[in-house]
Amino acid sequence: MSAVRTSKMAATEKQILCVGLVCLDIINVVEKFPVEDTDTRCLSQRWQRGGNASNTCTVLSILGAPCGFMGSLAPGRVSDFITDDFQSRGVNISNIVWQCVGITPCACCIVNHSNGSRTVILSDTNLPDVNSEDFRKIDLSLYKWIHWEGRNASEQVAMIQQVEQYNATVPTERQITTSVEIEKTREPLYQLFGHGDVVFVSKDVARHFGFNSASEAVKGLYSRVKPGAYLICAWAEKGADAMGPDGAFHSNAFPPEKLVDTLGAGDTFNAAVLFSLCNGKSIQESLMFGCQVAGRKCGIQGYDGIV
Ligand SMILES: Nc1ncnc2c1ncn2[C@@H]1O[C@H](COP(=O)(O)OP(=O)(O)OP(=O)(O)O)[C@@H](O)[C@H]1O
Ligand SMILES: *[C@@H]1O[C@H](CO)[C@@H](O)[C@H](O)[C@H]1NC(C)=O
Ligand SMILES: *[C@@H]1O[C@H](CO)[C@@H](O)[C@H](O)[C@H]1NC(C)=O
Ligand SMILES: *[C@@H]1O[C@H](CO)[C@@H](O)[C@H](O)[C@H]1NC(C)=O
Ligand SMILES: *[C@@H]1O[C@H](CO)[C@@H](O)[C@H](O)[C@H]1NC(C)=O
Ligand SMILES: *[C@@H]1O[C@H](CO)[C@@H](O)[C@H](O)[C@H]1NC(C)=O
Ligand SMILES: *[C@@H]1O[C@H](CO)[C@@H](O)[C@H](O)[C@H]1NC(C)=O
Repeated sequence: MSAVRTSKMAATEKQILCVGLVCLDIINVVEKFPVEDTDTRCLSQRWQRGGNASNTCTVLSILGAPCGFMGSLAPGRVSDFITDDFQSRGVNISNIVWQCVGITPCACCIVNHSNGSRTVILSDTNLPDVNSEDFRKIDLSLYKWIHWEGRNASEQVAMIQQVEQYNATVPTERQITTSVEIEKTREPLYQLFGHGDVVFVSKDVARHFGFNSASEAVKGLYSRVKPGAYLICAWAEKGADAMGPDGAFHSNAFPPEKLVDTLGAGDTFNAAVLFSLCNGKSIQESLMFGCQVAGRKCGIQGYDGIV
């Protein structure tokens, strides 16, 4: 009886959907950074599914949240690797949009084993992004939270407006909460500040606006978010800050004994904060949980072992 009930509940539990990029990361772990035009060996090399929204799904899934990914892929061997990996993590990929032009993006990453720094070179491909027409086809009733990695901002605003319209037609408990990540210093992305119940802004963007700490950034940029929203900014070893209608919040970082791989620390932080907020925890608890999980991630290669 209880097993039946549990499986029925699992089947009806709503998902978190992350919309954004997926790519292949070819990761070289090196003892020290190579000198140009030399031939060196790395400590290890691996293929890993990457991209911000894709990494966020990986972490949500490890934390135990049912989640799905929405983004573009082009058919081929790289996308086979990517879809296999999504499936092995239990991430729902029924909303992937298969494009017939362009190639699946690939990033070459060098992780400095001495201190965990990561250097990334992303191929700039011509793969079209998912758009608001693609988004219109999804069944919103399956989701409790939708997160956007800021990319094609005007299209993404149109997607968020679809959610607003949907929210207006359903009772409060079935409404969808939205979040956006503004990570790159690109003017068109800044319109996303005004959308989303939770807005993640990166250190890069904060610096671009002239702020030198997370607490300055969330205070200084708060007037850009919609009424009632939370603005969150992570700042590597300094931890993270948030600003909301109920004031300002901070969590220190939880550094691991040794930094080995910070690639995806930001995505891990975002996922852990979403997970915690989604489970009804306070913003203060969620910031701390985000920093704890991201800190553990920095102490290991990849994501296995963050919980
Ligand atoms: N050097 C570090 N020491 C301790 N914690 C860290 C460190 N770097 C990142 N973190 C943790 O990860 C969170 C996210 O950090 P941040 O967004 O600065 O990462 P990032 O370097 O941008 O990651 P990404 O590779 O995703 O770009 C921080 O709030 C902190 O909790
Ligand atoms: C994935 O989500 C779709 C809806 O987008 C749903 O129809 C399908 O059952 C889900 N698949 C799994 C394996 O949960
Ligand atoms: C790698 O980390 C070591 C130890 O902090 C540092 O001396 C070295 O300069 C780093 N290399 C690069 C390019 O990040
Ligand atoms: C690692 O060392 C490099 C070079 O000294 C530095 O630029 C980078 O910020 C360091 N990274 C971390 C995570 O400490
Ligand atoms: C972004 O959206 C615009 C329309 O709003 C479209 O013209 C453009 O091609 C899109 N870019 C990508 C990379 O999909
Ligand atoms: C949807 O409804 C939720 C719950 O009322 C609200 O917090 C949120 O702002 C709405 N989201 C959008 C995009 O309108
Ligand atoms: C993902 O986000 C991080 C910052 O959190 C950024 O440094 C990185 O370049 C992003 N990756 C991609 C593929 O956009």
